[in-house]
Amino acid sequence: MCGIFGIASTKSTRNKLYQGLMKLEYRGYDSSGISGSDISSKLTTIKATGPIKNLRTKLTSLTRITTGIAHTRWATHGEAILKNTHPHLSENISIVHNGIIENYIELKSLLKKKRYSFKSDTDSEVISHLIHMNYKKTKNMESSIISTTKILKGSYAIGCMNTNYPNTIFAACKGSPLIIGKGVNENFIASDITPILSDTKHYIPLDDNEFAKITPSKVSIFNANKKIIIKKVKTSKMNSEQSSLSGHKHFMHKEIYEQKPILKEMTSRYVGTNKILPNIFGPGTDKILENIDHIHFVACGTSYHASLVAKDWIEEYTTITCTAEVASEYKYKKINVLPKTLFVSISQSGETADTISSLKKALKLKYSNTLAICNVAESTLTRLSKLVFLMNAGPEISVASTKAFTSQLFTLLLLTIVISRKFGNIENRMVKDIYKISEIIDSLYKLETDIKKISTKFKNKEHTIFLGKGTSYPIALEAALKLKEISYIHASAYHSGELKHGPLALVDKKMPVVCFLPDNHLARLVLSNLAEVEARQGQTFIFTNKKIPKKNNKVEIIKMPDCPDLIAPILYIIPAQLLSYHVALRKKTDVDKPRNLAKSVTVE
Ligand code: AGP
Repeated sequence: MCGIFGIASTKSTRNKLYQGLMKLEYRGYDSSGISGSDISSKLTTIKATGPIKNLRTKLTSLTRITTGIAHTRWATHGEAILKNTHPHLSENISIVHNGIIENYIELKSLLKKKRYSFKSDTDSEVISHLIHMNYKKTKNMESSIISTTKILKGSYAIGCMNTNYPNTIFAACKGSPLIIGKGVNENFIASDITPILSDTKHYIPLDDNEFAKITPSKVSIFNANKKIIIKKVKTSKMNSEQSSLSGHKHFMHKEIYEQKPILKEMTSRYVGTNKILPNIFGPGTDKILENIDHIHFVACGTSYHASLVAKDWIEEYTTITCTAEVASEYKYKKINVLPKTLFVSISQSGETADTISSLKKALKLKYSNTLAICNVAESTLTRLSKLVFLMNAGPEISVASTKAFTSQLFTLLLLTIVISRKFGNIENRMVKDIYKISEIIDSLYKLETDIKKISTKFKNKEHTIFLGKGTSYPIALEAALKLKEISYIHASAYHSGELKHGPLALVDKKMPVVCFLPDNHLARLVLSNLAEVEARQGQTFIFTNKKIPKKNNKVEIIKMPDCPDLIAPILYIIPAQLLSYHVALRKKTDVDKPRNLAKSVTVE
């Protein structure tokens, strides 16, 4: 899961390659590298471990390069060390790769027999040697790349240079996205549109089993028979946005605070006085959604947690049955699709490989329609889905998702309201509840000072338990994920009623138990579950608007504002995001770029 960027040009490209790579850092930041050639076609390669900024001091050796390929890595095969950093070289061939080569062990032993030696532990290095071996035979790069990909099993987006082809980049892809950017006297390859936007808005998405030859003046796309394919050039509507911290110490903190204006903006864009505006999911969608009997939600991580809330909401207010599946499971399961089933994929990035391949699978099944809820326009997911809802929450930079989650919940609440229309006259009341979000949200930010104090109690913990019931259970899952991701403290979330079926054995006087307890019809039951914890001297941290007595100093109550139950999931997650943020600060972790993770998970 990595980012690829390349420029074929006759001018100096060193800085552009570096800046472009920075825009792809969300795809991985274990290590990065650039190979470039100058007018004499001499190839120079630089590499550095850690975040991309570590490449900066090495850039001077690339002063003269005009054409280059660059890569930022999220380690899958082989540790995050220099020898495993891309580009991988085989004499005059340099390659960058995103994806996983499943048969690399067989290919490695085949190449070793042909006297190729390996410098890395990666699956990717076989690609450079295979292209080299094929090129020696054919003396033709198009043929060499085609025959190389024929024996690769798995997924790949490849960028490749050969010093015998000055100012030229070759590219191929299958199962990993790659786009070709068309500029003026320079052309590009990239994992997504963002690194090319400052130079061009014109691009061609490369489809599976397609190849490209890119020079400064020409882009040729061809298939596995070397036949030229004429493809439509798309024009991006996106702008090259520069994200800044705007006075916040971290992007995560900034994004937590952006939730207020985003939700306000979404309300004014989609919600009328008593009704949701017509066809907000696209032309004709009110009619389409009226005809749905079942929904299959598919997503990963935080986006999956949003789908769990949606499942509860929709089943509560309609007779529609919903399933919510993690994408990495959906792909490999037998899926029974009943008539009138809608497939809904949810993804902040729209580039999550598991979610993309689930949508590809869904498109072949008998769904009545596919809807993608996404934050990134022109992402792979939005290109593939028939219906698309763009959340427009602005770029989410921090790896730990915050504003995307509440925007997803808001969107799914809109979806719930639209499809519940034919099940009763509740739209007016639900819309009133939606308007309360912006009224209440400010009071949540005021909790930050208290939360900061409470965070000290987590600093030295290794394990925590999170509890919730009903729609608060996915909030417990999401809050636990946030804590794990950025503070590296183990956190497990349970339905509060499940505690006594096993996890209670973990509770002792050292175990922090965090509970989300909106004052609703379930509160009484959750309180009994908390009593079971307190009886074992567990430390409880209760986010609640219910008046409950603080029995002793082992109970910490975070006083939540009163809110309608419908919108509680959107509001309760915000102080939990702040809690994990402050615990992470105390633990001095890299909040925005936690270890081992990447913003977008582009491998399966
Ligand atoms: C959230 O904090 C995570 N970084 C992660 O779980 C993320 O939500 C997941 O990888 C899905 O990403 P997507 O929404 O971009 O598809």
